[in-house]
Amino acid sequence: MSKKPVRVAVTGAAGQIGYAILFRIASGEMLGKDQPVVLSLLEVPVEKAQQALQGVIMELQDCAFPLVVGIEAHSDPMTAFKDVDYALLIGSRPRGPGMERAELLAVNAEIFTAQGKALNAVASRNVKVLVVGNPANTNAYIAMKSAPDLPRKNFTAMLRLDHNRALSQLADKTGKAVADIEKMAVWGNHSPTMYADYRFATVNGESVKDMINDHDWNANTFLPTVGKRGAAIIAARGVSSAASAANAAIDHMHDWALGTNGKWVTMGVPSNGEYGIPKDTMFGFPVTCEGGEYKLVEGLTIDAFSQECINKTLKELQDEQAGVAHLL
Ligand code: NAD
Ligand code: LMR
Repeated sequence: MSKKPVRVAVTGAAGQIGYAILFRIASGEMLGKDQPVVLSLLEVPVEKAQQALQGVIMELQDCAFPLVVGIEAHSDPMTAFKDVDYALLIGSRPRGPGMERAELLAVNAEIFTAQGKALNAVASRNVKVLVVGNPANTNAYIAMKSAPDLPRKNFTAMLRLDHNRALSQLADKTGKAVADIEKMAVWGNHSPTMYADYRFATVNGESVKDMINDHDWNANTFLPTVGKRGAAIIAARGVSSAASAANAAIDHMHDWALGTNGKWVTMGVPSNGEYGIPKDTMFGFPVTCEGGEYKLVEGLTIDAFSQECINKTLKELQDEQAGVAHLL
């Protein structure tokens, strides 16, 4: 183990997603089996949460993970984020049955203002931030805007769950393996308005769109299934997705840090005006990653149906952003 340890902050560490993700980070699934980590775990300063966090830490210790060289419990983001190289901002209220994610803005927005400021003050200048807490795009936007001394590109939102959900639906529809589907993209907000776009997707060079050749299925089955999957899971489980969310967060950070070998993945990243999306909007785009940096896939043609879908999800994000302007 010759690599220098990196510091990984996880907020909401005693929550459902926290419990599903920490053991996988600790085993090297996120940053590689040769990358030692110090886990810096943040929970609210409430006795019950801190006690639950101690229980999670005991379990992490009992795994004797060779890559874990330190585990810290925190109740203040200013200490939790000190010198962190990676920050997974998960901690926040999840929605319950019948709620939309945007309804969480009022309760969760302040968390991301405070955490953005703390990252700005104490994190590594190269910190890679992934916001999972909902509404993820707008919370990531808030954190980014609250951290003016950090590069904007360090802040990202999780669209990977939508991306993975879309891949799985496409594999089912075409009878092909998930691993063979390339060039899938999800545009926009992590919400039912997201636009999962398989127009460019291929399996061994063959067009997935041509294989399916069914616009009605796309508009009336595929997009609603992917867009409303979170609600379907809440209806079935009574609580929101956790293992699949943790898995998507691992995929997102893994690919950002270690690269995608030219494969497209979806990340929510601040726009620089690409595809007509106004600068700074935290928008799901197809990207490739290499050398610890993501790069947008540019120059894709946007047809009338796609433009309509992109406009709808953009409008929703702009409304969310307007709703938090007073915090920034
Ligand atoms: P949970 O209620 O099980 O756990 C959340 C934890 O965060 C709790 O332990 C809570 O004490 C803690 N917390 C709350 N405020 C905090 C703060 N300011 N600092 C540190 N910790 C804090 O919820 P969960 O199921 O783990 O979900 C967490 C969030 O992730 C929710 O907002 C949920 O909607 C979201 N989510 C997003 C996606 C996505 O694809 N982007 C997927 C699934 C869930
Ligand atoms: C999901 O997509 O499963 C999460 O964002 C949780 C939710 O509220 O839908």
